[in-house]
Amino acid sequence: MNRVKEIRKERGMSQETLARYIAISRKYLSMIERQNATPSISIAMRIGGALGVSVDKIFLDLPLEKTPVYPKPIRFIDLFCGIGGFRYASKYAFDKLGLEGKCVFSSDIDKYAQESYEANFGEKPAGDITKIEASEIPDFDFLFAGFPCQAFSICGLQKGFADNTRGTLFFDIARIIKEKRPQAFVLENVKNLASHDNGRTLKTILEVLRDELGYHVDYKLLNALDFGLPQKRERIIIVGSKNPFLMDWTFDIKEKKTLNDILEKNVDKKYYASPEIVAKRKAKHTTSVYPSIWHENKSGNISSYPYSCALRAGASYNYLLVNGERRLTPREMLRLQGFPDSFKIVVSDAQTRKQAGNAIPVDMVAKVIEKFLPLAF
Ligand SMILES: C[S@@+](CC[C@H](N)C(=O)[O-])C[C@H]1O[C@@H](n2cnc3c(N)ncnc32)[C@H](O)[C@@H]1O
Repeated sequence: MNRVKEIRKERGMSQETLARYIAISRKYLSMIERQNATPSISIAMRIGGALGVSVDKIFLDLPLEKTPVYPKPIRFIDLFCGIGGFRYASKYAFDKLGLEGKCVFSSDIDKYAQESYEANFGEKPAGDITKIEASEIPDFDFLFAGFPCQAFSICGLQKGFADNTRGTLFFDIARIIKEKRPQAFVLENVKNLASHDNGRTLKTILEVLRDELGYHVDYKLLNALDFGLPQKRERIIIVGSKNPFLMDWTFDIKEKKTLNDILEKNVDKKYYASPEIVAKRKAKHTTSVYPSIWHENKSGNISSYPYSCALRAGASYNYLLVNGERRLTPREMLRLQGFPDSFKIVVSDAQTRKQAGNAIPVDMVAKVIEKFLPLAF
């Protein structure tokens, strides 16, 4: 059995393109896909490389039914924890599966993120992860991390992740995984990770996780809009386990929140843009969609949708306006990311805007973790 055709289609790649890329004939690739030919190891590796999937995931018969054996509790760490998006997402997934999770370590360098996290989860995250030895972190089973996307300086003769990724925050994730050997991890990053440095950044990350650290790894670009949140937010999710696994990235989402569910009814005057800005926006754009979020792009073009464009930590003040008139409130931004209303806001509006813009879409990541947990253990 092999999954070449299935994964090729998932990647939106034609048979011709893949065959050309790995320098075999289309006919031969077609025979491999129909299980009429068994490729050599070197061709199998080239197929794996081209599809971004480890060879064993494409060519090995994996057990379809296996009973997961979970530790009790599942100890996890929350790196680059921000305001705890992974904390909520994992809690929802653990609860859904009747499992017990326990956070044994969290870290974020930002003082205000630490304040928000402490107010909501009762523990102050440790600071700069680059200064923390893996041996200082308690043992854990699962690692969560939404880390900043940085280029790696790969020099020809250097070998190994320490040389290839040093000075980046991914290096810190890798060294912690290497020393602590958790059963599994879920990492999150921006959509651009896939195209960053001509694809080299993602390729290096996958190679380090698979080849150097020995994990089975898969990844997918997902959009919060497809998970019932009214926000277009595309993120790459990387999942890895010591176990071989086949992740099914299709999700059946029944509950969907609309903008109406998210928007507050009585909004303070301070969130309204000035009459001049509103008049300028309305002179440029009209819409029949109500309610809608108006988005102004870098060139000043305005579009409106019955959902929000991605919240961004460093965006200009008025780039998203509800009905072209007012900014989102801190609570609305948190709701757009799937944070519950029980989340306590203890920092300024500006800090909450940054924190919400940095966070993960909780509903989306919860679904991924829920599906991945039984495969990972
Ligand atoms: C994309 S955000 C992650 C947000 C988080 N997933 C959430 O749901 O709120 C990245 C976080 O990494 C933190 N960070 C950046 N450099 C760091 C470092 N050296 N050590 C620890 N945290 C760091 C930032 O402060 C930021 O909160």
